[in-house]
Amino acid sequence: MRKFLTPCLLAAVLALTSCTQGAGSISDGQAAISAEQAGKMKWFDEAKLGIFIHWGIYAVDGVSESWSFHNGYISHEEYMAQAKRFTAQAYDPEEWADLIASSGARYTVITSKHHDGVALWDTKADDKSLVKMSPAARDVLTPFVNAIRSRGVKLGLYYSLIDWSHPDYPNIYRNGPARYDIAKEPERWQKFLDFNTAQLNELTQQYRPDLWWFDGDWEQSAETWKAKELTDKLRSDNPSCIINSRIQGYGDYGTPEIGVPVVRPAERYWELCYTINDSWGFQHKDVNFKTPQMVLRTLVDCISGGGNLLLDIGPREDGAIPEEEVAVLKELGRWTSKHAEAVYGTRAGIPDEHVKAYTSVNASGDILYIYLPYKPIGPVEVKGLIDNIKKIRVVGSTVEPQWKVYNKLSWSEVPGLVEIQVPQEALDSAITVLAIETDGPVQLYRGAGQVITMNE
Ligand code: GLC
Repeated sequence: MRKFLTPCLLAAVLALTSCTQGAGSISDGQAAISAEQAGKMKWFDEAKLGIFIHWGIYAVDGVSESWSFHNGYISHEEYMAQAKRFTAQAYDPEEWADLIASSGARYTVITSKHHDGVALWDTKADDKSLVKMSPAARDVLTPFVNAIRSRGVKLGLYYSLIDWSHPDYPNIYRNGPARYDIAKEPERWQKFLDFNTAQLNELTQQYRPDLWWFDGDWEQSAETWKAKELTDKLRSDNPSCIINSRIQGYGDYGTPEIGVPVVRPAERYWELCYTINDSWGFQHKDVNFKTPQMVLRTLVDCISGGGNLLLDIGPREDGAIPEEEVAVLKELGRWTSKHAEAVYGTRAGIPDEHVKAYTSVNASGDILYIYLPYKPIGPVEVKGLIDNIKKIRVVGSTVEPQWKVYNKLSWSEVPGLVEIQVPQEALDSAITVLAIETDGPVQLYRGAGQVITMNE
């Protein structure tokens, strides 16, 4: 008998939270995270689901948030005039918070101010707010923050660094003439930075967000934004605050947008921000809604890769949340509460050579979760699992499916095939989850098989 113990096998002992999948091997491609950073990121890392909210004057005519004037589809004047028809008359922050909390989301991120510069709170830094510009005539942010906090959901504030409507921001249109050149008028730029700082101070003092979600950093460099100074200040004001990556290199986690990552992002912490249809804000014409099951599949895709899903909703100008979006959040709630153990606190799963499905592992590494977004017509097959299996169960039910190991040769290192028969009646209506409990942290055989030189 020839011994065939690949180094990959050892490497695969499940510290798989930090594994990247390469050509047949697993390697730790991520930089070490300090204990302090890991402690700060813990709630975010365990949360898995957040709800993003884009609400602003753009919902009135259903044009794209800020970009519609920046790209010249409508004039700035026409765009800003929407404010006069922004009513918030059906706005019920308690209802929003109930819907978000019951979806299973552990955090929310709301647009306190988009690139158009219109604030949702009563800013004193300038006159561009729903309080001063719209018939809603009130601060709509504070009651939402209170409602969300009272339900134990963490608060994230989206804040656009760019303010294309501000007289001291250097540009307004993508292709239009610049207002001025920062290099030639540094004092004017500093005035703009002071304005941002004043607003961020207001937000810190009034809401002390758990998470800052910046946007628009791409228009200036880290030096021009004074990104280090800014993030140092936010962190000294609140050492436990988490900052997204859109601050020219000074953030805590990666933020891929809409495009679901195909390979796992390199960052230890990441979050996919994602639309339910094709728009961030409410747009009457956009009916390209994903189904609740498709959104759930994207959630387990993120969970499999060790990341979070930040799913966006775009309320109408009156504050009503479109029914298609409500339906998605309700289905998320049904599924996440039934499968809570396979959602919160899980870690990235195993390479899909082992099982053709999404996977994750629990925090101690001795439960492998397999997510099946389809009805299997035969047994589910798991390859290369070294550990002994203690139990296999269907999460959210009392069912323990039958399973059997095939091809396990006692003298070979290569594990057998685990074949799991999932009974029809145990299938979830959207995504079924299997839990494989092993006798220790999941270990994987990563070799290419072997020639058996001696048989019985
Ligand atoms: C983009 C867009 C913006 C949207 C955001 C959400 O960067 O500028 O309109 O708010 O992404 O991720």
